Formats: sequence, structure tokens, C-alpha cells
Amino acid sequence: MRVKLYREHKYVSFALNELERLIAKTDFTDPAALAHIQSEWLHVKEMLQAHASHEEHNFHALLERKGSTIHHNAHNDHEHQEETLKNLDCLLEAIKTSSDPVEGGYQFYLAYRKFVGDNLLHLHEEETKLLPELQRLCTDEELRALEHPTYDIMTTDDLKEMVQVLFPHMNVSDKSAFLTDIKLAQPDKFLELWEQASSFLSSEEVRKFQES
Ligand SMILES: [Fe+2]
Ligand SMILES: [Fe+2]
Repeated sequence: MRVKLYREHKYVSFALNELERLIAKTDFTDPAALAHIQSEWLHVKEMLQAHASHEEHNFHALLERKGSTIHHNAHNDHEHQEETLKNLDCLLEAIKTSSDPVEGGYQFYLAYRKFVGDNLLHLHEEETKLLPELQRLCTDEELRALEHPTYDIMTTDDLKEMVQVLFPHMNVSDKSAFLTDIKLAQPDKFLELWEQASSFLSSEEVRKFQES
């Protein structure tokens, strides 16, 4: 099987949908509930910005070097995403001083839900158009090397935190792929990480990874 990218989209989709469900239930007349939404929104927003920046600087840059143009639409999506995030910031901020926070909260919910829908189409394009092109133009080694600078900077604790965030949303095949990438890129950090495998894999998954 070829090396795959974008596996973390399973987490991205989960995080956006969780926030949508939370916004749907929120009483926007309650300042504490509004503050909670603002804090969760900030977390999701920063995650999305870091994700898009990683794709731009690594995946799109590689496609550019290979002479492909397939990423241009996804690049435009990333630019448009920045505008949408700013607009959502404004809608959320406006609720604080609104004379009708219930209506303000509903307008924020509608705009956020639309954004989630647009984002799902963006994830789909990346996995059904950009990924096959990357696999066609690049070797598995080149694709794996895209994550090397990230794993180089991360400590073992960072890697553990990363897999603990991502793995609950993935199947055993995704988890094995992540661990194999880390093992190939950073063998020493992998050994330290593996000692703590019970904190991010079931015993059945540990067995399957050892047999693979
Ligand atoms: Fe993207
Ligand atoms: Fe993405």
C-alpha cells in the first residue's frame, strides 16, 4: 500500500463537528457559556490555521516543485478560510454586546455550520484529488519525508500528546501508519514512545503493530 497523507482529517472532522454540536446547545444569554464557546472556538481556529499552514508549506510546495497545479483550488480554499475565520470571530464577539444574544448566537451557529460543510468538501478534495496526484508524482520516501521536520522538532512527550489526540478517531491501520512514520524518522524517540504504548493503543493494537 502507498504512503497516505491527510489521515489527521479524521480528527479535524471530529473536532469541527463536536464544536458544531456544542454551539447548537449553547445558551448565548449565559456569559459563562459564551466564554466556553470562545475558548473552544479559539482552539479549533488555531488547529485549522496550523493545519492549513502545514499543507501549504509542505504538501503544496512539493506539488509546486513537481510542476503540478492540482493544489490551486485547495490553496484558494485556505485563503478563503482565513476570511471566514475572521468573519466568525466578529460574529462571536458581537454576541457579547448584542441586545439579542439568542439571535446573535443563532447567526453564529448558521455561519459556523456552513463553514463546517465547506470544510468537509475541502477535506474531500485534498484526499481525492491532491493525494492521488502526490502519490503519482512522488515516491513513498518523498511523501514520508514531508513529516520529518515536524518529528525532528517534536519531543517524545509532544509525539505522545499528538497520538493521544489523534488516535481515538482512527482505525488500527491509521495508527500503525503514524507509528511507522515516527519509527522511520526518529528511531530513538519511537523507542521512548513505544514504552508508553499502553497510553494510546489497546493490547490488541499493540499485538497487531508488533506483528506488522
Ligand atoms: Fe487544507
Ligand atoms: Fe487538510
